[in-house]
Amino acid sequence: MENLLPLGVASRIIGVCDQTLRRWDNDEKLVATRGGNGYRYYNFNDILKHIPNSKAKPFIKWAGGKKQLLPDLLTKVPEQYEEYIEPFLGGGALFFALCPAKAKLNDSNAELINTYKVIRDNPSELLKLLVDHKKSHNKEYFYSVRSIKTNNLSDEENAARFIYLNKTCFNGLYRVNKKGEFNVPIGSYKNPRIVDLDNIYACSKALQGVELFCMDYSEFINNHVKPNSFVYLDPPYIPLSKYSDFDRYTRDKFRVGNQIELAKIYRDMIDNGVYAILSNSSAELTIRLYSDFKQVKVLANRFINKNPEKRGKVEELLILPKREKEIEFPSTRYMGSKSRLLPYISEALKDNNSKTVLDAFSGSGIVSYHLKKLGYEVTSNDFLAYSSSVTRALVENKSTLLSADDIYELLRHNRKSKRFVQTKFKDLYFSDDDNKFLDNTLANIAKFSCEYKKSLALAALSRSCLKRRPRGIFTYVGFKYDDGRKDLSFSLKEHFIFSVHEFNKAVFDNGKENKTHNVSVMDLDVSSPDLVYLDPPYFSKFSDNDYVRRYHFIEGLCKNWEGVDIQEHTKTKKFKKYDSPFHTKDGTYKAFEFIFKKYKSSSFLVSYSSNSLPDKNELIAMLEDVGKKVTLMEIDYTYSFGNQGKNINRANSSVQEYLFYAE
Ligand SMILES: C[S@@+](CC[C@H](N)C(=O)[O-])C[C@H]1O[C@@H](n2cnc3c(N)ncnc32)[C@H](O)[C@@H]1O
Repeated sequence: MENLLPLGVASRIIGVCDQTLRRWDNDEKLVATRGGNGYRYYNFNDILKHIPNSKAKPFIKWAGGKKQLLPDLLTKVPEQYEEYIEPFLGGGALFFALCPAKAKLNDSNAELINTYKVIRDNPSELLKLLVDHKKSHNKEYFYSVRSIKTNNLSDEENAARFIYLNKTCFNGLYRVNKKGEFNVPIGSYKNPRIVDLDNIYACSKALQGVELFCMDYSEFINNHVKPNSFVYLDPPYIPLSKYSDFDRYTRDKFRVGNQIELAKIYRDMIDNGVYAILSNSSAELTIRLYSDFKQVKVLANRFINKNPEKRGKVEELLILPKREKEIEFPSTRYMGSKSRLLPYISEALKDNNSKTVLDAFSGSGIVSYHLKKLGYEVTSNDFLAYSSSVTRALVENKSTLLSADDIYELLRHNRKSKRFVQTKFKDLYFSDDDNKFLDNTLANIAKFSCEYKKSLALAALSRSCLKRRPRGIFTYVGFKYDDGRKDLSFSLKEHFIFSVHEFNKAVFDNGKENKTHNVSVMDLDVSSPDLVYLDPPYFSKFSDNDYVRRYHFIEGLCKNWEGVDIQEHTKTKKFKKYDSPFHTKDGTYKAFEFIFKKYKSSSFLVSYSSNSLPDKNELIAMLEDVGKKVTLMEIDYTYSFGNQGKNINRANSSVQEYLFYAE
């Protein structure tokens, strides 16, 4: 009587009365086999065809199960799709609710996937074994089953053990020790539901024809997602508390780097026209990782607090495949940044035929990045190592990213790390913990052999320092100017995690060989670009334009403190300013003349301001001297901080920003 079920059981599984089954047998709709006793028995495979799809529900308890979110999730399912794909299957609440005709399901937990396979292929055998477990269940038995070495068990025995332990252990948790042995204690259930016959058969029906996989999520998605798939991603959640120990191995071996990597995979899927929904906690990191997409808040009951009184509804996020924003350059408040002038730069260049462009003073890197987006072959230069870290990471680099493993390597404790920042800059800019993080991360960055990875990490680390610092500068020590901005409440490590994501996200290929240099413009050797963009430090007698003074700290980081001449007597521990002609009036005039002459066969786009020298007429005259025809765009502009507005009265802080186009 292998795999044959008596009439009473068969009718219950299908959800009809015994009478109906007898009639079906007579009508040959579902034919029974007669046993020696004359009773009707039914073949499981025949029964499967008659189990209604809607009956199945998850056969295990699973942390973070999505049963409660089903109403929210089901309303987001696309009307049509070819195949259902779930890379982090767990309890499979959405899969069972949908019972899709075609599906590929994956989980990295081998015991879990084995159980799904056994339910799909041999539910009767599994149920027999579960009945045995149920009969023997008590505390002693639980612990003896828990300690069994699973490699000697058959797939069915393993699946039965898995379900038995899941139904009887504390809270249905799944946790293994370092050796991979299940170690959750017994739960306090009076009558645990070990044998749920109806549901196991219903699940088996739902799983017929479904392909099951046990591999890493990224490999699974790469191999199986197609443009007409519907993908539901329910990864391990980002903890709501601070992620100070987030880089440790989690139960799921899912670290912060994996979350960053997954966000990139999600974006790539959406860009390829895949309909993908993702759920995660409402942690700040989730909000940032998916900031380009529509986010919907949903409420779920979760046991996240040890104190039962504090348990209750928790906000979670559903990420929907609707782009709300395009990819942006990772923002900073770099002095003199032309972020607000980009539309004018595009306008000035709209009839331009240039193919190659030199951005000779790239600063924050935002203009070089914008020019790359516009399709130019861009050469960036700045004498600050910080600036060239950014442009090497985002302008020259076409496709290298920091992978989940790289991020793990960056965040892990490095025993060989020096204590340079911790001692030299103690109590100056950041807390001891932040300083320790900087020393450690720098030591880890030094281990990378790939220049692009190094630059991505240095750029992200520098941006974290700029974000963590009130006003984003290093011209004062201590913590004055704390204006309560949210960014100031995150640790450097948290900022670094956010920034790594921002930089990874911003990497793209415009099909051109873009390049980065890191020398003084006076020593730069770039052969005749079609266009030269000049945005030098503005010389004004009202304020100094020394970038090293403002950014020496991140400059030191980007140079791993090598070759910097720290002025020990200064409060800020700044180092000697770099040689630049733009520090003096005379030098500034000479430098302009030198550059205009050197690149006289190129067109020029020059940024300058109305309260600086040379003035507008002098600049036009200099450009005309090298045979150029000049058009001038004048833009009203108010400096927000730090630069020219500082020593002059407020009325004058509104100045004109000039864009000279000369060809
Ligand atoms: C006005 S900022 C450029 C801002 C940039 N266009 C942006 O949007 O962020 C001027 C830049 O010139 C750099 N610089 C100053 N003197 C230099 C020199 N002699 N050679 C190369 N770069 C220099 C500074 O480090 C600074 O980043």
